[in-house]
Amino acid sequence: MKKKIVILPGDGIGKEVTTSGKKVLEQIAECFGHEFIFDEALIGHDAIEATGNPLPDESLVKMKSCDAILFGAVGHPKYDNDPTLPVRPEQGLLKMRKELGLYANLRPIKLFDELLEASSIKPEVLRGADILFFRELTGDVYFGERGRTNNNDTAFDTMIYSRYEVERIAHKAFKAAQTRRKKLTSVDKANVLESSRLWRSVVQEVAKHYPDVVVDHMFVDAAAMKLIQNPRSFDVVLTGNLFGDILTDEASQIAGSMGMLASASIGDAVGLYEPIHGSAHDITGKGIANPLASILSAALLLDISFGLKEESESVIRAVEKTLKEGYRTRDIADEHTPQEKILGTEVMGNMVCNQIRISQLAEK
Ligand code: IPM
Ligand code: MG
Repeated sequence: MKKKIVILPGDGIGKEVTTSGKKVLEQIAECFGHEFIFDEALIGHDAIEATGNPLPDESLVKMKSCDAILFGAVGHPKYDNDPTLPVRPEQGLLKMRKELGLYANLRPIKLFDELLEASSIKPEVLRGADILFFRELTGDVYFGERGRTNNNDTAFDTMIYSRYEVERIAHKAFKAAQTRRKKLTSVDKANVLESSRLWRSVVQEVAKHYPDVVVDHMFVDAAAMKLIQNPRSFDVVLTGNLFGDILTDEASQIAGSMGMLASASIGDAVGLYEPIHGSAHDITGKGIANPLASILSAALLLDISFGLKEESESVIRAVEKTLKEGYRTRDIADEHTPQEKILGTEVMGNMVCNQIRISQLAEK
């Protein structure tokens, strides 16, 4: 198979982790006889520094003409601490999601057995948890009208959803539920918000097309509690952009660390794959970031965009094996991890590549 992949390293540890994600894709190409052609593009703080624009047109053109995108992260502390700066890295990310029509963000919360102890939640509560979030990604308060009034002393952001936006992601989420445990929880705040009442009624209508899926509706505050109290009670979770942003950071703790969670953003055309963690400037340049979320994002890319199930599974198995052999990055290590098993970003990525190679050789 011949495919074009654009790598968007972005800012901070984005660069470090996508280097590992790309290496894994190269390893897969070599072992399974595919040809992946890589290109790179700018986004975020680096793009602002180089061009004044957080998402230069040149980057968008590249993204629109490739088969899949592997993305790192954007952000820089300079902007976090100065809310008055008019041009910001995150604008590039949001524009990219909108321009590429990436309306469905899939965030699988998969717990590797080896990391049961890495979470701050009790192992007996966690064991067996397996959740697939569908976070709507191009609507809501992220893209609604916003502004200032009253001499700049009042600010507003509009939470807004249209029927078609809820319908298209709901269909995707129900279809996914049909291939899993056939349970879907739609999360909203319909006791307060009008946009949530629309959300709920559209989900109820879409549900009629999927009689084999059991649906429940939950308010976001209750869902936040239930996620920690009984994560096993969830299968597919369908929710809006803002609630999904918050709940998936929370849910990352079920998987032990943000450093483990991959995501896929899909929609009208090309798919984009990225870790759910951010640019993490506190650890940037130290070579200690966990590359597994980027590597697992590459696995999602192989599966969802290219339909390469076997290749995707070989990446996931290689991650599992690496963890089983006791290797950890700092974020998932604990007091029992021997010092020599705590790896940096690059070595961890190489370990996973080795495992892919070894298991391929074993099969031959
Ligand atoms: C995410 C991030 C982004 C979001 C930020 C960086 C704008 O937190 O992808 O979850 O809020 O969507
Ligand atoms: Mg987030």
